Amino acid sequence: MLPARLRSLLFAPAVRPDLVAKMPATGADLIAIDLEDATPVIAKADAHASLPDLMASVSGQIAVSVRVNDPTTEWFDDDVAALPDGLAAIVVPKVETVEGLDRVAAALAHHGRADVPVVAGIETALGVADARLTLAHPAVGAAYFGAEDFIADMGGVRTASNHEVHMARSQVALAARLADVPALDQVVADFRDGDRSRREGEEARAMGFGGKLCIHPSQVIIANDVFTPSPEDLDRAHRLLEAYERASAEGLAAIDFEGEMVDEPVARQARRLLSLAD
Ligand code: COA
Ligand code: MG
Repeated sequence: MLPARLRSLLFAPAVRPDLVAKMPATGADLIAIDLEDATPVIAKADAHASLPDLMASVSGQIAVSVRVNDPTTEWFDDDVAALPDGLAAIVVPKVETVEGLDRVAAALAHHGRADVPVVAGIETALGVADARLTLAHPAVGAAYFGAEDFIADMGGVRTASNHEVHMARSQVALAARLADVPALDQVVADFRDGDRSRREGEEARAMGFGGKLCIHPSQVIIANDVFTPSPEDLDRAHRLLEAYERASAEGLAAIDFEGEMVDEPVARQARRLLSLAD
């Protein structure tokens, strides 16, 4: 089962047991042991054999997932066969079609893991275009947007402005909202730039994402902070709702609250913020 909050999903390569062992101490809401991009082709088979030990080094300490190779690859079936017990989720990269997710669901069922939710990676042109169809699949419990793979597939150029991914990012947040699953925003590859992680996290939160993919412990701290409403935000939301409800009872639907117009949609944003804190 996925954790109730998904502010941070931290990755480490399956070929790095040293990093995996350090993951519980990071405070990530969910961790992913990566069999895909961070595991080189020559190590794919050995990675399966190492999964039980990797799992033993973290289990009971944090919510754990495994990122498998995508269902169109030669490794996918063996990845699913090798999944350890006790996983909170399976992360499936490059999700593009409902048929692909049907294959994932069938493989999970075949190995007695039908109840393990899928975190669907939306990170290709087709994946983004059809996210509304795929994220509605019953196997999907959450989604992420992968900027690097998306731009590679587009033949574009990745920039710090994020302009080139804005529409795709938004579309994933939109599809996740319609499917009623939480959405995780892209990785900041430049992991030593904490300002960028914070800026992107705030951007993502404003767009409706609930968290961020992380590759480094320092990014987990930032993501957990950005996606947790601050005491000031909560206090303001309480005061705003109090004023709004008082005015509503007196027959007003739009009021001046500390210099800003507040009406029902603004009040709804405040209620949503408070619900995140529960
Ligand atoms: N999980 C847990 N611990 C991690 C970690 C991770 N993903 N990345 C770094 N750490 C640890 C380091 O081991 C180090 O621990 P120490 O203080 O005990 O020595 C500490 O955090 C600081 O790490 P730092 O020296 O700044 O980074 P690094 O050079 O060791 O590692 C990377 C940098 C990018 C190689 C590493 O962060 C990494 O492999 N990240 C995951 C990549 C991945 O999975 N990509 C695929 C998904 S997009
Ligand atoms: Mg990738």
